[in-house]
Amino acid sequence: MIHHLRAAGTSFVLDARGTAVPAVIHFGADLGELDEHALHDLVEAQRPAVGPSSIDSVLTQSIVPLMADGWSGRPGLAGYHEGTPVSALGAQKTAALRLRDTRRTDHSVTLILETVPSVAGEPDATGLVVEVDIELSTEGVLRQRLSLSNEGSSVYSLASLDATLPVPARARELLDFTGRWPRERQPQRHDLGVGTWTRDSRHGRPGHDAAFLLVAGTPNFGFRHGEVWGSHLAWSGDQRLWAEASATGHALVGAGELLEPGEIRLSQGESYRSPWLVSAWSNDGLDGLTRRLHRFVRSRRALGERKVMLNTWEAVYFDHDLAKLTRLAETAARVGVERFVLDDGWMKGRTDDRRALGDWVVDTSKWPDGLHPLIERVHALDMDFGLWVEPEMVSVDSDVFREHPDWVLSAANAELPQPWRHQQALDLSNPAAFGHVHAQLVALLEEYPIAYLKWDQNRDLLGGSAHRQTLACYRLMDELRSAFPGLEIESCSSGGGRVDLGVLERTDRVWPSDTNDSLERQAIYRYTAGLVPPEFLGVHLGAPTAHTTGRSHELSFRLATALFGHAGIEWDLTTASETELEAIREWTSFYREQRALLHSGVLVRADDVDPARQVHGIVTPDAEAAIFAIITMAATRDSPVAPVVFPGLDPDLVYRVRPVRLGEWPRVLQDAPPPWWTHGEITLPGRVLVELGLTVPLLLPEQALVLHVAAV
Ligand code: GLA
Repeated sequence: MIHHLRAAGTSFVLDARGTAVPAVIHFGADLGELDEHALHDLVEAQRPAVGPSSIDSVLTQSIVPLMADGWSGRPGLAGYHEGTPVSALGAQKTAALRLRDTRRTDHSVTLILETVPSVAGEPDATGLVVEVDIELSTEGVLRQRLSLSNEGSSVYSLASLDATLPVPARARELLDFTGRWPRERQPQRHDLGVGTWTRDSRHGRPGHDAAFLLVAGTPNFGFRHGEVWGSHLAWSGDQRLWAEASATGHALVGAGELLEPGEIRLSQGESYRSPWLVSAWSNDGLDGLTRRLHRFVRSRRALGERKVMLNTWEAVYFDHDLAKLTRLAETAARVGVERFVLDDGWMKGRTDDRRALGDWVVDTSKWPDGLHPLIERVHALDMDFGLWVEPEMVSVDSDVFREHPDWVLSAANAELPQPWRHQQALDLSNPAAFGHVHAQLVALLEEYPIAYLKWDQNRDLLGGSAHRQTLACYRLMDELRSAFPGLEIESCSSGGGRVDLGVLERTDRVWPSDTNDSLERQAIYRYTAGLVPPEFLGVHLGAPTAHTTGRSHELSFRLATALFGHAGIEWDLTTASETELEAIREWTSFYREQRALLHSGVLVRADDVDPARQVHGIVTPDAEAAIFAIITMAATRDSPVAPVVFPGLDPDLVYRVRPVRLGEWPRVLQDAPPPWWTHGEITLPGRVLVELGLTVPLLLPEQALVLHVAAV
């Protein structure tokens, strides 16, 4: 049978005729309603020729590509049956698979594949069952997941089980991401030549340099143009994303968990399930991809109103003093903060980052009456309370380590892994260790009215099983969320080391980066928001001089940057001037007023003529209103006077454009009179704004102009 799934302008066609492993024929533009006959012709029309010097039949790129089918590229499944003579199969070559059964709904196909009994009658080499779940969501997002069960009698040691997706020959330019602390998710682009482009993460978390989103597209695709296919692995542990093109013209992207040799050994009756590979297609550049992905994420995770928060980290670090924190809370409440989050430093003996992780009890020397006096004050000020924790970690200088040194996550029979920020990971797959952390967190959540946990993870694992650790961490989050309904969790990992759709199934916010430097944050937001909707992305107004870079920015630039996302403040407000506090109060009230738009609208990014200038905005789904930011990342270079175009508006509507003052007005080039309309407003047809654009002031570097746009 040929399966055709359609949703939101996207078609997915899978050839599942006969017993061969099915092949994806098309994932892209909607092909319209097609009957069985038309689908048959379509598949025939796409069938490649039998190449010279190749297998004697058509080489199909199946959904689980295997050498047994003549595929010499990277296999979809690799592993071996322990005890099987290598001569029988080859260590990495899995026996052929065939289609046993199919389950079909309107929007999904599940394929059940099984190994074909070998001709040589090698009984131990069969008995594998692979289930492939394929779903096309109503937003046009494709999800694929594979499960492997061992029904045979010998242990199967799994090397890799990857979901794959073919990409057409016209998509030979790749974009993916890299980064470091604190400059996460920076783009890298190149052509996909013959060969394999692989991004491995062995951090035990996606990492600051995570590939994040692997996009294949037509040459020079941009935010608003080009045909693109993007894939993300919804997983918070070790992983591999890759793209491969062969000299025969086949090309595909693939991804799966990166498994260590021997990490997954399946005895009879045991199974392994891969993470979801989440993919989308667009004919309107990266923004089209983003639009689908955002809708998909939003449909799965309904969030409440995103409260303006204050986080204490860069305000006080480990220096917890009730009087000081009370003053900070009072000032925060005055400027409109709705949630007060006490960061690291509250636990017993936690005077710096060298100790006390793993002992999740309040330090009575800093907090003689516990956290109650602070929380009561915070509540009286009409804010709710959040607390920082790092449940997966342990310090060597801690009670838990002294009592249970064997709970540390490390390779079997090995020394402790290299310390990282002076800490170790706790092996959460050990039920005793899991039980300890679970009980301590439950005790905290029962004693204190905690609305929000900032859940940190500050090291690469470098030992133990990242697979089991990731599952145990998910389970800990899931159990706490079900025991404390309404509890919100933020995923932080030394800033943005764990930003993925796996963790976002069970958390409400990610911390994209430890930097509160607005210039860095603009660059990080630009692509992080390409996958994760802004309301999930924490963004904080930091101190005038950024702690991570030493760079100073005016309040207006910092406020404009912290508007786009889930807004917060991370600055010792008790040192701010009255003028600054008043500007912050106006900013929080503008944020609250525009929160619905900012957190449900469509993200748009312009392909501006000047690389030093970045234009991004959020447009309501009906294009009736929008908020845009024009940012100068550096001195404008190529075309500083070129008008700015406003993508995403409706050409057939008429709009009023009005600058929004946040703090001071942004600073402009010497003697350059700003356009008259910036003193008030201008009304223009959507077509003019979208096609011709609007002249904006010549902003100095590291300035932002925020515009409110509304249909009249
Ligand atoms: C990590 C986080 C920071 C802060 C500190 C506390 O570095 O990314 O935001 O919470 O830990 O130790």
